[in-house]
Amino acid sequence: MTKKLKVATIGGGSSYTPELVEGFIKRYDEFPVSELWLVDIEAGKEKLEIVGNLAKRMVKKAGLRIDVHLTLDRREALKDADFVTTQFRVGLLEARAKDERIPLKYGVLGQETNGPGGLFKGLRTIPVILDICRDMEELCPNAWLINFTNPAGMVTEAVLRYSSIKKVVGLCNVPIGMEMGIAKLLGVEHSRIRIDFAGLNHMVYGLDVFVDGESVKEKVFSLLTDANNTSFVKNIPGYGWEPQFLKALNALPCPYHMYYYKTKTMVDKTLESAEKEGTRAEVVQRLEKDLFELYKDENLNIKPPQLEKRGGAYYSDAAVRLITSIYNDKGDIQPVNTMNAGAIASIPYDSAVEVSCIITKDGPRPLTMGDLPVAVRGLVQQIKSFERVAAEAAVTGDYATALLAMCINPLTPSDTVGKEILDDMLEAHKEHLPQFFKESGV
Ligand code: G6P
Repeated sequence: MTKKLKVATIGGGSSYTPELVEGFIKRYDEFPVSELWLVDIEAGKEKLEIVGNLAKRMVKKAGLRIDVHLTLDRREALKDADFVTTQFRVGLLEARAKDERIPLKYGVLGQETNGPGGLFKGLRTIPVILDICRDMEELCPNAWLINFTNPAGMVTEAVLRYSSIKKVVGLCNVPIGMEMGIAKLLGVEHSRIRIDFAGLNHMVYGLDVFVDGESVKEKVFSLLTDANNTSFVKNIPGYGWEPQFLKALNALPCPYHMYYYKTKTMVDKTLESAEKEGTRAEVVQRLEKDLFELYKDENLNIKPPQLEKRGGAYYSDAAVRLITSIYNDKGDIQPVNTMNAGAIASIPYDSAVEVSCIITKDGPRPLTMGDLPVAVRGLVQQIKSFERVAAEAAVTGDYATALLAMCINPLTPSDTVGKEILDDMLEAHKEHLPQFFKESGV
């Protein structure tokens, strides 16, 4: 009898689940998962049923022996799991819409993982992930935690700092999206591309780009000056980079860097589209409605192509590629969020970074990147400080710490505006921030 291989996915009712299931089906030969437990909360019960039944049909069509379980009992799902993947959203898309809308009232970027929105997503998410970690210590102490929940960098930082879980990897689809996008621009197969990634989640730079081991950085820079070539994820339009700026920067920015190097344009565009078609969360709410209608179709037994309109494309590839490499001790190179351990000289040893790593059965081993170029080092360090202070605020529920996190974020224009946004958002998200509303809280 083959050994049981159990995966628990928290936030299993997510519209992204068919991506993940497709990944497990494609890589079944290398990773023969026998039980997939999709977990959600009461409020996500209906979605869990719909997406879970689609998952079952997908597995049946593939002719594989994967038992798909749907449950609201997280502890039952975690018991003896080998891998735990997390893709939940505290407060659902309604909370994300508030993260996006409220800062815009103050002329500040409203975005899921950057600026005040990223801070609040972290404040809501970190207590929940730490609770999951406590359950894991008890129910599946040997399992790997593969976190996809945003803000993925801050969440990984919090797990490393505030839990006893060491087997944690944070994952994002931005690096793989950049690799795929650049491969396409260069007209080469994805497998021939390698990018040396270093930085933080949604703040990662490509320090060099190789095709078959030869650097093509200069060529890639010249392609990225064209706006059509710079949208590597569906949720961020591309606006092209100034050629001389890019050359001088001498590193490949990720799509999220547009919020930092083109702040005014991005705030204006975000405002404009919020007025025209709604914020990204509101657009996604409509997309999700359509997706769930499709998922209900009993004849559907594959991942529908419409899911590719979401920003998380290639998520399954990234997630299952990582899990498969850990399971098989592959030793291939993948960019993930993990403890720096000296890989990037200018970031603390014990902080989470997003960096190219060798993936082994003992987890990611970061490749040594040395120091970041001086022109990018400061911004990365600033965001790292922001993430650390934000994680501390999430754990302590301390108002002054949250205010500090808000005001040191480079997208917050002043301490006064920062305080106004903070107060507004604390009130709006009260229900999901109990740590700030204890007796002695605000
Ligand atoms: C990108 C990011 C993810 C994020 C997603 C949002 O791909 O890397 O971290 O969750 O976009 O996509 P959405 O379709 O929800 O706007």
